[in-house]
Amino acid sequence: MINLQEALNRLPRLPLAQLPTPLQPAPRLSKALGGPAIYFKRDDLTGMPLGGNKTRMFEYVLPRALAAGADCVVAGAAIQSNYCRQLTAACAQVGLEVYLVLRSVRPDVETIPQGNFLLDLLMGAHVYVVENMGWPEQIEKIYELADELRAQGRKPYVARAANQADIGLDTAAYTNCALELHHQLAEQGLKPDYLYVAAADTTQGGLLLGAKILGESYQIVGINPLGKAAFGGPPAVELILHAAHKAAAELKLPVEIRPEEVISYNDYVGQGYGMPTPEGLAAIRLVAEMEGILLDPVYTGKAMAALMDHIKQGRFKPTDTVVFLHTGGYLALFAYQHYFDFEGQVRKII
Ligand SMILES: Cc1ncc(COP(=O)(O)O)c(C=O)c1O
Repeated sequence: MINLQEALNRLPRLPLAQLPTPLQPAPRLSKALGGPAIYFKRDDLTGMPLGGNKTRMFEYVLPRALAAGADCVVAGAAIQSNYCRQLTAACAQVGLEVYLVLRSVRPDVETIPQGNFLLDLLMGAHVYVVENMGWPEQIEKIYELADELRAQGRKPYVARAANQADIGLDTAAYTNCALELHHQLAEQGLKPDYLYVAAADTTQGGLLLGAKILGESYQIVGINPLGKAAFGGPPAVELILHAAHKAAAELKLPVEIRPEEVISYNDYVGQGYGMPTPEGLAAIRLVAEMEGILLDPVYTGKAMAALMDHIKQGRFKPTDTVVFLHTGGYLALFAYQHYFDFEGQVRKII
């Protein structure tokens, strides 16, 4: 019998996240959907201003960067990146300067400091905005910036996704989440049938590995925010397997996940990464009104839209239980406000 806790304890770790995150029922949402019992695992509440799934990952990644003598971190993603906002916060806490190369997905509106981008700036990140650029070209910019910093005598650590070397550590953080959930399910006497999550690689890879080691019976259903072979890269199943096996290697655990064990839907993305869908926007409003929980238009709103669609298709029995792992991201709401129609909801008192 593999002891996951012991394996995790062997990895250096910085306590950055507020853990455990709550596991809470959503009875009004379940009733409104006429569906299975739904529970939220609230990784939107991990702390590191305003939460999200990445904070768990920096607990394992930043010790490695610090051990390598890094005095700053270089990273890049979309301009409303939750990853970069949580990274900037974590680095502020440990005293590492942050340099970000941020890609504008909707150039007309996105260079205004708001949402995650506003917080990056408030927390002192040095930001370089790029437009009309593919991911391979953006990675080049990230490495050019790291080279410039090295030429100035600095010691930059290049973070994911440009540098995949430590992806096993990011992923191991979600085996830890699976373990945390395992204890909470036992405490609350729950035996879920499904776990739904917005996930592209590390989060689902870690959950799969953790759930397999722990012998969980629930099926993990990933809803991919990027679409088919995002940014010209490999398909999600390959990325998820790669991440899971890298985590197994970091944890020194001889566990293999087979391709048929990975369930990943890429048909809830709509027009593309970062572009909201009508179903995702409707899901955000329903969950907000029923439970006072905020989803986001890029990741969790689309994942919830998938769960709602699966309920509509009659895939669940009334006795089923679904855990929805909320990976955060709601700061993007403040950069997507114009997609919502509040007609008739705001009135003037004369
Ligand atoms: C809110 C949110 N959910 C899900 C994900 C997907 O996480 P992963 O890349 O680990 O699959 C991200 C990644 O940025 C995210 O910000």
